[in-house]
Amino acid sequence: MRKAGKVLVVDDYEPSLRGLGQLLEHAHYIVLTATNGRDALEIVKRERPDLVLLDVLMPGLSGVDVCAELKRNADTRLTPVVLISGEQDRQTRLAGLDAGADDFLNKPADPEELHTRVRSLMRIKRLTDDLESAESLFLTLGRIIEARDPCTEGHCERLAEYATTLGKHLNLDQADLDALYRGAFLHDVGKIAIPDRVLLKKGRLTRKEYELMKRHSAIGDDLCRTVQSFEAVRPIVRHHHERVDGRGYPDELAGDRIPLLAQIVSIVDVFDALTTDRPYRKALPTATAYRMMRDDARGGWCQEDLVAVFIDLHRSRELERARVAV
Ligand SMILES: [Fe+2]
Ligand SMILES: [Fe+2]
Repeated sequence: MRKAGKVLVVDDYEPSLRGLGQLLEHAHYIVLTATNGRDALEIVKRERPDLVLLDVLMPGLSGVDVCAELKRNADTRLTPVVLISGEQDRQTRLAGLDAGADDFLNKPADPEELHTRVRSLMRIKRLTDDLESAESLFLTLGRIIEARDPCTEGHCERLAEYATTLGKHLNLDQADLDALYRGAFLHDVGKIAIPDRVLLKKGRLTRKEYELMKRHSAIGDDLCRTVQSFEAVRPIVRHHHERVDGRGYPDELAGDRIPLLAQIVSIVDVFDALTTDRPYRKALPTATAYRMMRDDARGGWCQEDLVAVFIDLHRSRELERARVAV
């Protein structure tokens, strides 16, 4: 019979650990156990359970501490956590909620209640797993597109780093930073539909070829439409070639009508293109790239002050790196 999922039970009191474990094994779950917080964190890292049941009162790391740690870590924050505490323990529940706990159970656990909670959290976990695999599929797609063009190796990763650094500097919230990260990988996803003879052409594109190439941003937006969690990324994918003077594509948006996140990706995209080798020229020195970007911004490409912020930030980070290297 197919196992119903993997549950980690954490309790310093062996009899209740055994009791909970048996109840869950009966319901065909794979049960892992730990008797303290440290071991629990290790096991989560190694075994990737679908759900963690945590006793609150444990010597050393408490259940609330372990929960907070799991929710802080990007790799484990989607793993549901149920805290098990004494009844009416309001303070603990508040602390647990604060730490990101997904649910609570009273001690001693009522078997029926335990099964219902575990079942419903497992269902949610499966949904988030599906969403995550859809998401990683798309991020992989971004890398595949990059791999078609040997000149752009590492482009997505660099873009993600530049864009989120600039976003943090502009005090954007976490949702926007997430969108920037994904947008960096996905901005050119529509190039999947552009034939190699155009995408990889060494010489100048003909007018017709250029028109074809320009379709990649709208096509990319269309591809992302199927994944709900990409809603925030779509404006980046669609508008990363717009210009503030309204002469960009696909929608000829002007000025503030271009979404800020799209402008950020546009700036870091151009910077990375200028400072890496291309089929038709070698990478340009950073100072030359800065100058060209400033000139282009003045000519109507994008907000001049945003380019200035990026250049300042990049320059200070370069200095930082140089200092570290010394
Ligand atoms: Fe593009
Ligand atoms: Fe790009």
